[in-house]
Amino acid sequence: MKILNLGSLNIDKVYSVAHFVTSGETISSTRMEVFSGGKGLNQSIALAKAGAQVYHAGAVGTDGGALRTQLEEAGVRTQYLQTLDTATGHAIIQLTPEGKNCIIISPGANGEIRKDYIRQLLNNFSEGDLLLLQNEISNVDYAMAEGKQRGLKIAFNASPIDQKLLEYPLELVDYFLVNEIEGAYLAGAEYCADKWAVLDAMARAYPNAAIVLTVGEDGVVFRQGSQVLSHGIYRVKAVDTTAAGDTFCGYFLAGIAEGLPVETCLERASMASAISVSRKGAAPSIPSLEELAAFAKQQ
Ligand code: RIB
Repeated sequence: MKILNLGSLNIDKVYSVAHFVTSGETISSTRMEVFSGGKGLNQSIALAKAGAQVYHAGAVGTDGGALRTQLEEAGVRTQYLQTLDTATGHAIIQLTPEGKNCIIISPGANGEIRKDYIRQLLNNFSEGDLLLLQNEISNVDYAMAEGKQRGLKIAFNASPIDQKLLEYPLELVDYFLVNEIEGAYLAGAEYCADKWAVLDAMARAYPNAAIVLTVGEDGVVFRQGSQVLSHGIYRVKAVDTTAAGDTFCGYFLAGIAEGLPVETCLERASMASAISVSRKGAAPSIPSLEELAAFAKQQ
């Protein structure tokens, strides 16, 4: 199975701060670092490091050559990635000493993904392949519909949340990868701290899809039809949680593409995401399979 990830690529500017800046306040960061990121790029790198055959499509600007190189070095195929005459997407990330973040994104080239490009791109894929989407590029709804029409399976990481989300043809999605806030939003339910209630609401709203619901310290719960599973987290010292969800998503889907049992996919994805939390940066924090094996031995 080929995996096509049509997703965002960002230059992440990470500012280490004592606390998140609040309204009317000016603070100075203790350090500024630049990493490659974007939910799309992070997930492609996680997929490739987990052994999947992944193609990353989308767009960078003329200043985005390093992001293309980073993908290629991780084993991601980039022949469909466009370079547009505009700025690459970027993210401004505040990072606290506890490893927590808050993020502002500027879409740049990610907001210039056109329908004709998507149509041509999909000509290179066929029934049984997997199309992975997040919510950081333009025309996500069009990609979902076109991909499904050509027989591709659709995986959707519904992040970040915005008002357009509920207008997407979400009934076409085969795999949802969401956190509890995104899950409640997509199910049209009140936010609820009970992960099982959110999982049930999602399963009722999207009965044909597999739901992967990550719940922070509470791990992950999964449901597909009558199959219900859960997995806890692996405790590590948190350095930077950026891209933990992306690492989970990539490792989980790589396992599915390989035909591994869902239990194994959840276990591997949970370990990979724990390792990424113990390291700084988005893409650079994603572990290899060898690093995963070494981590597993220590558990
Ligand atoms: O999920 C983390 C990512 O979100 C960061 O790399 C940032 O670029 C934003 O897209």
